[in-house]
Amino acid sequence: MITPLRWEEGRVVLLDQTRLPQEEVWLRLSGWREVAEAIRTMRVRGAPAIGIAAAYGLALAVWNPSPGKDPRAAFEEAAEGLSRTRPTAVNLFWAIRRMEGAFRRLARSDPEELRRGVLAEAVRIHEEDIAANRRIGEHGAALLPERARVLTVCNTGGLATGGYGTALGVVRRAWEQGKLREVYACETRPLLQGARLTAWELLTERIPFRLIVDGAAGWLMARDGVDAVLVGADRIARNGDVVNKIGTYTLACLAHRHGIPFYSAAPTSTIDLAVATGAEIPIEERAEEEVVAPRGVTFAPRGARAWNPAFDVTPAELVTAIITERGVLRPPYHDTIPQALA
Ligand code: MRU
Repeated sequence: MITPLRWEEGRVVLLDQTRLPQEEVWLRLSGWREVAEAIRTMRVRGAPAIGIAAAYGLALAVWNPSPGKDPRAAFEEAAEGLSRTRPTAVNLFWAIRRMEGAFRRLARSDPEELRRGVLAEAVRIHEEDIAANRRIGEHGAALLPERARVLTVCNTGGLATGGYGTALGVVRRAWEQGKLREVYACETRPLLQGARLTAWELLTERIPFRLIVDGAAGWLMARDGVDAVLVGADRIARNGDVVNKIGTYTLACLAHRHGIPFYSAAPTSTIDLAVATGAEIPIEERAEEEVVAPRGVTFAPRGARAWNPAFDVTPAELVTAIITERGVLRPPYHDTIPQALA
């Protein structure tokens, strides 16, 4: 199973996803600031994975504090710094809140107990995510027809999570069950998570797939080439609106037009009951450079401007079902989501 990060002897060991697939470089990070940098620059990315990285980052703040710094002050500074890395995926804030709860409960412990306790909470967050993904895989695979052809976007696999994957976990499970014919992976401009990361994972697992340019999705659906669209999520609102990688909304509109089911697979840690609709969710806008000069190669003429939203909002009415570890949620989501989380 591909897992993008782990704790090892007081360090966070993290696979640098900006270097994939050309190179497999594992970084050994010793401070929370390095973890924050890795999240901001997307060396680690994907909603569940950045939550887990932040949890380990907070453990680092306790394990390797700046000399003379009070542990509480060090922890709070790290929580604040990590929460300012990326704004959209709620798993980041969810994991930080869980770590803050653990820290509070351990406040009266001796230093050794505190170190062990915060690390144990980070490891629990990591392990629970893997277990959730496996259940998502099981629930999701049951929704697919025999010999399914699945269309996906971005990377939702082991790399984007604690391991195994959400939408790609469903693909993995369906493949194990002999139900999957082929995956179509959108290359996912501008950072090419589909072409670089999903392709790398599917090749590693020997799951049959073909890459398509993002603009080919509609024509593929029109030619009756897709049985289900399966995507992940960075944050799901109380009403079932799904925020995910830019281009997801386009896929949902196309799926609706062609009568193809559109599924979002995500752990319940991705659901944010505090936001009523997708309109309240902050959408990260990234540097224009990523569009005009992807990976340092300039395509656009000098002076060309770009707009680079990293995510979009798919309205709940276009979402056939949300696949979570607690089961498959169907509309009306304003009823089924709070019930599932109760
Ligand atoms: O910008 P990224 O690569 O962090 O975006 C990732 C996505 O949009 C994924 O679809 C989402 O986080 C779900 S990952 C299981």
